[in-house]
Amino acid sequence: MGYRQVERPVYVETTLPVEGTLPPDLQGTFFRNGPAQHEVGAMRYHHWFDGDGMIHAYRFDGQSVTHRARMIETEKYCREQEAGRALITGFGTVVPGSEGLAASADSQNVANINVLQHNGELLALWEGGSAYQLDPETLETLGLKTWNAQTAGAPFSAHPRIDTDGTLWNFGYAAPFGAIILYRIAADGRVLDTGVIPAPETPMVHDFVITARYLVLILAPFRFEQAREGAFIDKFAWRGDEVGRALVIDKNNLSAMQEIETPPMWIFHYANAHEDAAGRIIMQAPVYDTPSVMTEAFREVMRGNEIKSAPPRFMLLTLDPAKGRFDAQEINGLANSEFPRIDQSMQGQRHRYSYAVQSSRGYAGRGFDRVNLIDHETGQVQGFQYSASEMAEEHLFVRRPGATKEGDGWLLGTSLDVAKGHSMLNVFRADAPMDGPIARMPLPYALPLGLHGNFYT
Ligand SMILES: [Fe+2]
Repeated sequence: MGYRQVERPVYVETTLPVEGTLPPDLQGTFFRNGPAQHEVGAMRYHHWFDGDGMIHAYRFDGQSVTHRARMIETEKYCREQEAGRALITGFGTVVPGSEGLAASADSQNVANINVLQHNGELLALWEGGSAYQLDPETLETLGLKTWNAQTAGAPFSAHPRIDTDGTLWNFGYAAPFGAIILYRIAADGRVLDTGVIPAPETPMVHDFVITARYLVLILAPFRFEQAREGAFIDKFAWRGDEVGRALVIDKNNLSAMQEIETPPMWIFHYANAHEDAAGRIIMQAPVYDTPSVMTEAFREVMRGNEIKSAPPRFMLLTLDPAKGRFDAQEINGLANSEFPRIDQSMQGQRHRYSYAVQSSRGYAGRGFDRVNLIDHETGQVQGFQYSASEMAEEHLFVRRPGATKEGDGWLLGTSLDVAKGHSMLNVFRADAPMDGPIARMPLPYALPLGLHGNFYT
């Protein structure tokens, strides 16, 4: 059910019933993005990440919650809607007779990974091309976001990091060109700096981290090889006999970089990073031995098949710039966890609490069935177990207005109940997810499983 074609292109604003009690001071909008249109004309996409993006807005006024959603009208989506058939080979599906991958990245842009509000602009993020700007009220698509003339059409990843002063840091990997672009954008939207890092290993990179002084990117030996046949993902080869490379980049000089060798490993998402008293960089992330969950499992789910892929291990990763060393240590109790989130006010600093969903089901397609509060200080992991028919999506932390300490707020997340045939919005106390949701809001429909979201007041 989670990988089905979305039922309609627009969901008009609907007030959701509330089971439990909504906190009166939880006010704002929870935006979410994710692949939704999985079929165009007679074609069903072959990979979960091909689906054209749909943007959702859950608005909280302290007493009630409404939901609305609409397809993001990318250039690709509009052209294919008009034609009534798939026209463009994208992330994981080869469309016969398509223009192929030679056209500009934005001709394949499905804007389906994340959603961010910055300087009052609502942006739907992909990673292979530009962000799309949306109307925050109506969710209508306004067009491609151009930061400046120099970076027009350049890749802008779906996981920017917002610094404590509001600066937006991001990267974009241009694998076919062997380069990674870096962005430093002020809170008011001005581009303060850009950088271009040579990446001859032409890697795929999904996320990165910031610390007080550095940007850190880990480049896996998952390499773009032009001669390989197929869609975008097919052109990447896992070279597990090669090493990876961590780039430690000076925030104040984007061309000053130290490289540290890492083992071959695949990381989708990091929770956070900080520098310790000894100058080492400490990061937390679910780590996979290979990217097979993306290259195989997320392809099979589109055919209704399940294949077991090696679960990620939640690791504490250490980079020591002084010694040029990388080290990794597993955090217990968190196998098969993903979508790690933190209290955003702790970005780039030592934080105590992470939040992540976890699966005890073993198969990527069956989704996550727990949401956990992880205390990095005590090592304690406590969480809420969803029912056997529910698939939990990313859960994120929302800070309580006026909060003075880390972790004072709520956890918000959606789930899909495949037995009852509807999606659900869930609110927990962030310090006690194990007590269960304090409010649950069933939707009158089932939405396709999505990816990332953010909450804005
Ligand atoms: Fe992601």
